[in-house]
Amino acid sequence: MKAHLTRRYMFSASHRLHSDEMSDAENTATYGKCNNPYGHGHNYALEVTVSGPVDERTGMVCNLVELDEFVQRKILERFDHENLNMLTEFAQAVPTTENLCTTIYDILQRGFQPAHLDKVRLEETMMNSFEYAGD
Ligand code: NI
Repeated sequence: MKAHLTRRYMFSASHRLHSDEMSDAENTATYGKCNNPYGHGHNYALEVTVSGPVDERTGMVCNLVELDEFVQRKILERFDHENLNMLTEFAQAVPTTENLCTTIYDILQRGFQPAHLDKVRLEETMMNSFEYAGD
């Protein structure tokens, strides 16, 4: 009996969408106001979905305490109230929410063992969100 569990987390971070490989005009054309030199912030909502059989003993897909502890230590403490452009994860990649979403997926995929990772969904605003479920 396979079931899915989705847990929601909140964090805030700032970014500037800018590629060193593009001219200023191309950056403006590509990213618009998001290319503003001073950057801007978002209150991100992160949803992590894991799946697996419901454990007969605990009645759970995954112990939420373990998931919360991992996300707190490896993701929230890493990204909350940071300027994403300054982080090593985005030294080469533009800190779009697509790239942030895949980065968070990779952290979970590599490090979280207790349950199978299905997908990561990241809401940037009320109007847009991104999902990544691996290749
Ligand atoms: Ni933005």
